[in-house]
Amino acid sequence: MKKLLAALLLLPLAGLSASAQTPDPAAGKTLWEGNNTQCRNCHGKDGEGAFGPDLAGRGLSASEFQQAVRKPWGVMPAFLDTQISDADIANLAAYFASLQKVATPGPWRFTAADTMPHGQQVFHNVGCAQCHGQTFDMPRGTLGGVNADFNLFKSIVYTHTTTMPQVDESLADGPPPPANGNRPPLRMGNFVPTRVAESQLKDIYDWARDDIGFRPLLQGRLSQPVADANGATYTLNLANNGLKGKGLEADGLTVDLVIPAGLTVVSTTGDGYKGVHMDAQAKGNVAEWTLPKLAAKDKRAYTITLSKAASATDNLKGSIRWTKPAPKTGPNLDVQNINPPAPPRPAP
Ligand code: HEC
Ligand code: HEC
Repeated sequence: MKKLLAALLLLPLAGLSASAQTPDPAAGKTLWEGNNTQCRNCHGKDGEGAFGPDLAGRGLSASEFQQAVRKPWGVMPAFLDTQISDADIANLAAYFASLQKVATPGPWRFTAADTMPHGQQVFHNVGCAQCHGQTFDMPRGTLGGVNADFNLFKSIVYTHTTTMPQVDESLADGPPPPANGNRPPLRMGNFVPTRVAESQLKDIYDWARDDIGFRPLLQGRLSQPVADANGATYTLNLANNGLKGKGLEADGLTVDLVIPAGLTVVSTTGDGYKGVHMDAQAKGNVAEWTLPKLAAKDKRAYTITLSKAASATDNLKGSIRWTKPAPKTGPNLDVQNINPPAPPRPAP
C-alpha cells in the first residue's frame, strides 16, 4: 500500500515536469526585452515589425518559429541553440501569439541614404546597421585592434559563433576564461553565404577599413576616488588594447575629463597636461591631456585630484579623441567615451 501511494504521488510530479515545458509567454517577453538577445532591433520592440517582418499576433507555431530562427528563409542570420534554445523559441512563439496583430509594421531603425558610400548602403540593406548603428563604431574598434584582414572579417560574420570567442580570447589580457565559463550568449547570429554574398561583405569591409576606417582599440577607465585631506583622487588608466605588433596605433590623442559642476581641480599627474578650459560641447570645465601616440598594448596612467568626490548623478567622465587614423571622407566623429567609475563591488 505504501508503495502504491508513493507511486501515485510520483505521477503528478511527472505531469508537473511535462508542464514545466509548456511554453511560457511571460518568459518569452522577458527574453525578448532583455540583454541576451537583440532580435528586437530587426523585429521591433514589441514584434511590430521593422527590418524584419512583424511577429505580434501572427500566430506562428513554435515549429514555424523554430524553422525561421535556425534555417532563416532570407537575409536573417541563423541562431544556434547555444544562443537561443528550443524552449526559448517556444516561449517567444507563445508570447507573440498572445499579442494583437499590428495594422502596419514599424519602420527600420536605420535606413540607408543615397548619399552614403556604396559599402555603407549594403551595410544597411543586409541588416548590420540595425544592431551596429549607422557608423559601425564598436566593431571598427575591434577590427582595428586585430587589424583584421578580409578572411577574418568574413569568418566573424559567417561563423560568428566559433570565430568571435577566438577573437575575444586573442584580445583578452589575462588567462582565457574557463571552457565552461558563464560567458553571456553571443547576440549576433551566423549570416548565411547564399543569402548575404561574399561580394556584399567585401563592399562592407572595404568601406569599414578604407573609407570610414578602422579605429584603434582604445579604452579609458576611471577608478573609484581615494579621499584624503587634499580632496578626492581618481586614477585614469588609458590603454590601447589592440594586439601587440598588429593593432592600429592612435596618433594625436586628446584626453578630456569633464569636471562636475561646483568642483575644482586641485592637482593632476601625467605628461601632456594642458590645464582646465570651458568646453561648450561638454557644457562645463574640462581637464585635458594630449599624447602624441599610443601603440597597441601601450598604457598610460593619469591622476586627477578634485576638491571633493563627485556624486553618482553628476559623476566624473570623459572622452578620448585622436587625429589618426581618420576617415578618408567625411568628418572625423570618432570618439571613445570614458565612463564614470564603476560602483564598488559589494564585499564578498
Ligand atoms: C538582421 C535582422 C534580423 C535579426 C537580428 C533577426 N531577424 Fe528574424 N527575420 C528577419 C528577416 C529579414 C526575416 C524575413 C525572412 C528572412 O530573411 O529569413 C525574419 C524572419 C523571422 C521569422 C519568421 C517570420 C515569418 O513571418 O514567418 C521569425 C519567427 C523570426 N525572424 C524570429 C527572430 C528571432 C527570434 C530573432 C532573434 C534570435 C531574430 N528573428 C533576429 C530579420 C532579422
Ligand atoms: C542582432 C544584432 C546584430 C546584427 C544584425 C549584426 N551584428 Fe555584428 N555583432 C553584434 C553583437 C552584439 C556583437 C558582439 C558579439 C556578440 O554578442 O555576438 C557583434 C560583433 C560583430 C563583429 C566583431 C567585432 C566586435 O566588436 O565584437 C563584427 C566584425 C560584426 N559584428 C559585423 C557585423 C556585420 C558585417 C553584420 C551584417 C552582415 C552584423 N555584424 C550584423 C550584433 C549584431
